[in-house]
Amino acid sequence: MVDVSATRVAWLALGAAVGLPVLHAVSLLAQAGPGVSAESEAMTRLVLLATVLCALAVFALRRYRVVQPSAVLRAGLVLQGLVGFALALEETAGPFGASAPAGVSAVGPWIVLAGVTVPARPAWTLRAGLVAAAAWPLAYAVNAARGVAPALGAELVFWGCLNVVLAVATYGAVRNRSAVHQEAGASADDIGGYRLVSRIGEGGMGEVWKATHKLLAREAAVKLIRPEVVAREGREADLAAARFRREARSIAGLQSPHTVYLYDFGVSADGRFYYVMELLHGMALQAMVRESGPVPAGRTVSILTQMCRSLAEAHARGLVHRDLKPSNIMLCEVALVHDFVKVLDFGLAKNTDPSVTQLTLDGTATGTPAYMAPEAALGDGGVDHRADIYGLGCIAYFLLTGTPVFEEPDPVRAALMHLNQAPEPPSSRLGAPLPGALERLVLDCLAKSPADRPPTMTAVIERLESCPVDPWTAADARAWWETRLASGRIDEPATRSSSGARAQSARPRPATPA
Ligand SMILES: Nc1ncnc2c1ncn2[C@@H]1O[C@H](COP(=O)(O)OP(=O)(O)OP(=O)(O)O)[C@@H](O)[C@H]1O
Ligand SMILES: [Mg+2]
Repeated sequence: MVDVSATRVAWLALGAAVGLPVLHAVSLLAQAGPGVSAESEAMTRLVLLATVLCALAVFALRRYRVVQPSAVLRAGLVLQGLVGFALALEETAGPFGASAPAGVSAVGPWIVLAGVTVPARPAWTLRAGLVAAAAWPLAYAVNAARGVAPALGAELVFWGCLNVVLAVATYGAVRNRSAVHQEAGASADDIGGYRLVSRIGEGGMGEVWKATHKLLAREAAVKLIRPEVVAREGREADLAAARFRREARSIAGLQSPHTVYLYDFGVSADGRFYYVMELLHGMALQAMVRESGPVPAGRTVSILTQMCRSLAEAHARGLVHRDLKPSNIMLCEVALVHDFVKVLDFGLAKNTDPSVTQLTLDGTATGTPAYMAPEAALGDGGVDHRADIYGLGCIAYFLLTGTPVFEEPDPVRAALMHLNQAPEPPSSRLGAPLPGALERLVLDCLAKSPADRPPTMTAVIERLESCPVDPWTAADARAWWETRLASGRIDEPATRSSSGARAQSARPRPATPA
């Protein structure tokens, strides 16, 4: 809504910039004869000129996307008062009524026009209307102090009061309209065709909500991305929106059952990117390892193989995930199949501008340093599908040992360790033997140079299949899930977030180095 309102404010400002001089000319003609002194006329014109310039500036702010839409709205509020003041200054200088062709103050119609054309919260409409109405007595006081205002008669009081009455009436009409709108099903909690029900979790990029489709009653998960993750302001925001749409379209075309299905995507009326995906029933690997500790080799192989199938298809279509980490992999129950892997958060809404390094010091990293490939940490733009092979190695390490490759909470130091430090073999971190072929594969995936890693996900799958591990059977998976469901450690039907955050009102936290 902010976006639409800002555009309306801009057009209204342009209308004011054109209309004010026209009204001024009309009132000069209407006065025809002994009217206002030259000195008073000069001041009126000066205020008029300043107002027209401000109105043009507000239009330009929006037209050239110089500031955020909310800033345009604030500028619009000031402009509404300024236009009211300019109109009133002219009306209250010289013989009363001479400059009011329609027989009422022009401030009143201005308040109504602005109130009905700019969609805003009713309280905002009231505030803007009262600011413009208050400009009228202010202008009268200024003219009275200069000795050019007419004596305060009943008519004059009526004019001033009428503006306030119109401001309140406009507020009433807008409030009524917004109530009808909400009854029709368009509440602030709606996004696309979905109604947000409860928050599942939040991460570095934004929040994930459980949602239902308004017409189909189909359940879904909606990820709302914080605007600052993808773009700053102005034209950059437009480019980011175009890129987001392009990438989302590609991801929606992925067909692997191990890739989360994307139902829809877009940019909400208030400028937030969102995408709608299938609602998964399960838990993220992060939460699973935190709860159950290191994962047996056979189960790790099963999870990694499914991940590889999802990623192999994406890579074949030229898509790189870029943010593989345990909280982006969910272990689910799908159509009575347990331990079904789904890969989430595919390359969407990441800043691909090579001049913007993935790692920032203020905790707003768009990648996640604990799982970031050395070449991604360098931010040199040379990131390809082999960065995902490194990410897969990090997740394999995390599953087998229960700890990240480098246990360093500081994001910058973690990135430096990925660049320079050889990882400790998983078996020595675990303090127990692991199948040699599996350990070698994990360390190969973690090679610093992309050229030293397995070349493709298909090559990784082949090596995983030849690892001599105790197989993790469907019965093992079912037994594990039944225990978890019985103990209530997996929520129905959605999941806990990696952070366990469920509070409705919690603010999004900055990117974590997790
Ligand atoms: N489609 C989904 N269905 C059910 N739960 C989901 C779905 N997508 C995400 N989640 C849950 O929401 C949690 C938060 O996800 P989110 O992607 O916001 O956080 P993150 O992965 O920690 O950070 P990032 O924003 O960097 O990806 C996940 O850990 C997962 O448990
Ligand atoms: Mg995620």
